[in-house]
Amino acid sequence: MVEIELKNEEFELFRRYIYDKVGISLSRQKSTLVKGRLNKRLNHLGLKSFREYYDYLVHDESGEELSFFVSAISTNVTSFFRESAQWVWLESYLPKLTASKREKKIRIWSAGCSSGEEPYTILMFLQHHLSDFDQWDIKILATDISSKVLAKAIEGSYEAKQVESLPREIALRSFEKLKDERGIRYRIVPKLREKVTFRLYNLVTDPFFFKNRFDMVFCRNVMIYFDDVTRQELVRRFGRVLSPGAPLFLGSSESLTSQRETFKLIGSSIYQRL
Ligand SMILES: C[S@@+](CC[C@H](N)C(=O)[O-])C[C@H]1O[C@@H](n2cnc3c(N)ncnc32)[C@H](O)[C@@H]1O
Repeated sequence: MVEIELKNEEFELFRRYIYDKVGISLSRQKSTLVKGRLNKRLNHLGLKSFREYYDYLVHDESGEELSFFVSAISTNVTSFFRESAQWVWLESYLPKLTASKREKKIRIWSAGCSSGEEPYTILMFLQHHLSDFDQWDIKILATDISSKVLAKAIEGSYEAKQVESLPREIALRSFEKLKDERGIRYRIVPKLREKVTFRLYNLVTDPFFFKNRFDMVFCRNVMIYFDDVTRQELVRRFGRVLSPGAPLFLGSSESLTSQRETFKLIGSSIYQRL
């Protein structure tokens, strides 16, 4: 593989473009990371310089290359039942939510869903804790900017070691065992999969137009990449699409430093839309 240099002025082009398009603010120290993670891509595309790659990126109207770039510089790390304290909190909140509903309808958004563990965990959780789960009309919108992770999420099949750590009762009801060229895998059962709609969606630039307000929004470990201005704007927009009283879940290392008139801290990185 040919090692291609990333000049300062080229890095600057990427830095500005990525900030405008995705809200990710790349510090100048990230130059080595960008160079290291994208060298293979440039070689694969037969490009000779990062300037050529920049032109390729900005002219790709499909958004696929942007999606590739974001996957290369950010992390898609996720897992089932991540942030355990939040699930404990949700257990006590659920009876209040269901009691407040005239129609048996719940709408949830997993924003930055990565490979699907988060939206599927929400469903596993609801199936386990709602005795009349089958009578509820539950829909989850799960979105991410990376088409690569979304393809995994849509398939909904996971390695045995990811599933073996789940409580047995939950795993048995939620997965079917299958074998393919990758070995033994566990796929989310159709009954749960069909409740999730996966969409390629950029939280920074795509419009927030939704038919219904959401009863919960999960946007965990996504805003870590954004600067303050982008974060605040995103949270303001979440405020518009959440029902009054509904919770917004952030990652455990994330917090809201503004919007106190719209959101109140009610649990571990959980904020209530006032
Ligand atoms: C670390 S993962 C978090 C997954 C999951 N929410 C969790 O906490 O386990 C962050 C995800 O955010 C996505 N992401 C980053 N910037 C985004 C943007 N502007 N719009 C939508 N998704 C974005 C990434 O592609 C990645 O899959």
